[in-house]
Amino acid sequence: MKIVVLTGSPHHSGTSEQLADAFVKGATEAGHQIYRFDAGRRAKEFSLLQLEDDHPGQEVAVEPEDVITTEVIPHLLEADLVVFVSSLYYYGINAALKAVIDRFYAKNHELHGGKRAITLVSGYGQPAAFDSLQRYFDQLLDYMRWPSAGAVLAADSWNQQKLATHVEEAYQLGMNLK
Ligand SMILES: Cc1cc2nc3c(=O)[nH]c(=O)nc-3n(C[C@H](O)[C@H](O)[C@H](O)COP(=O)(O)O)c2cc1C
Repeated sequence: MKIVVLTGSPHHSGTSEQLADAFVKGATEAGHQIYRFDAGRRAKEFSLLQLEDDHPGQEVAVEPEDVITTEVIPHLLEADLVVFVSSLYYYGINAALKAVIDRFYAKNHELHGGKRAITLVSGYGQPAAFDSLQRYFDQLLDYMRWPSAGAVLAADSWNQQKLATHVEEAYQLGMNLK
């Protein structure tokens, strides 16, 4: 499978990064082809969505010559599976990951359907703190018509023992992709 992994946290080495690393390790060992873009740590390399002026009633995306246009979107168009990796920031996803998702707009129709998605999420709070973030991903995946192929929720992420269990879950998820 061709897999695109999009991470959002700027934190190295952070808890969500550990989930991403473990997933990538498992999926690579299982023979899948991975393209990974660490948006939180490469935020200076791309711009927020920009729209052309003077298109009343519709939005027309500008496509700047940055890494999203030249690398991320082309890999996404080819992907069988998209993996979203985020930590919980003020009850939502990392801003850099959201910025990449907004850039999907330039190829909105082409990106619909034909893929599955996985979410890997970590955060300090207990599971209820992730309600709005989880709902966001549920709605996004429905909208994109990318059925879920699995998820890891690493709540209480500062608990090393619990985190280690979730990192192993992410590894197994990558290793056992069908
Ligand atoms: C800007 C910021 C916002 C955060 N917001 C929340 C929050 O809303 N709820 C929560 O439980 N933890 C919150 N946290 C804690 C992180 O979710 C937690 O430390 C997580 O393990 C960070 O993962 P990372 O190291 O992969 O970024 C926040 C941390 C930061 C830096």
